[in-house]
Amino acid sequence: LSEVPPDDRITRSWLENAGAWTRAVRGRAMESRRVATDQAILDAVLACGGERVLDVGCGEGWLSRRLDQAGRDVVGFDGSPALIEEARGGGGGVRFIALDYDAFASDPGAVGVDYDVAVCNFSLLGEHVGGLLAGLRCVTRPGGHLLVQTVHPFFLAGTARYEDGWQEENYESLPGEWSPMPWYFRTFGSWVRELGLAGWRLDACREPLHPATGQPVSLILVAL
Ligand SMILES: C[S@@+](CC[C@H](N)C(=O)[O-])C[C@H]1O[C@@H](n2cnc3c(N)ncnc32)[C@H](O)[C@@H]1O
Repeated sequence: LSEVPPDDRITRSWLENAGAWTRAVRGRAMESRRVATDQAILDAVLACGGERVLDVGCGEGWLSRRLDQAGRDVVGFDGSPALIEEARGGGGGVRFIALDYDAFASDPGAVGVDYDVAVCNFSLLGEHVGGLLAGLRCVTRPGGHLLVQTVHPFFLAGTARYEDGWQEENYESLPGEWSPMPWYFRTFGSWVRELGLAGWRLDACREPLHPATGQPVSLILVAL
């Protein structure tokens, strides 16, 4: 299995884990999401204003549905056809498209254009994100926002060198059967570099805290 390129393992895991993931999200099984990160990304998108939102790597579609309920005009896309099927079954007026990031990067307009906000909620997992970020620049209107919620840079504190590199998610804290998934940790500087190379400029950061421990549970990058 380790000879399979990590990006292929990521893609495969989102086919294999589609059912367990949908149950975990809809059953509110992830504490960090429950106590902080879901509300934080919703607030961040709504604070941008505008009507048209692109939910990038939308998974089973919870964020798209919440934004739809808040009156936004939402399109969600994801590379896992199994998760897009779950998303379509979830109701609401959202258009969900099965499309992986490479296909999007070669034809960004396939998801529509003139978005006010593009949002990536824990959905940038691979090493190479440049093509996707540049494609998002093409489909957002001038002055439109890009929001990326991701693992906080403190994640590695005290356990490993603070540098970009592959990690492994085993979903140990969640119920059900899971395939492990590689994901690529990025330092804060690396995120800012990737955004800049793709034509985005970092405008602000949000760092949602765990209400009990006071520690950051994620980083939200806001780019223009
Ligand atoms: C952790 S889930 C987050 C899903 C959703 N944004 C949420 O907040 O629940 C990561 C999502 O990114 C999608 N994804 C990862 N790599 C992808 C790729 N190369 N192309 C398209 N989707 C991808 C997966 O299919 C999965 O749905």
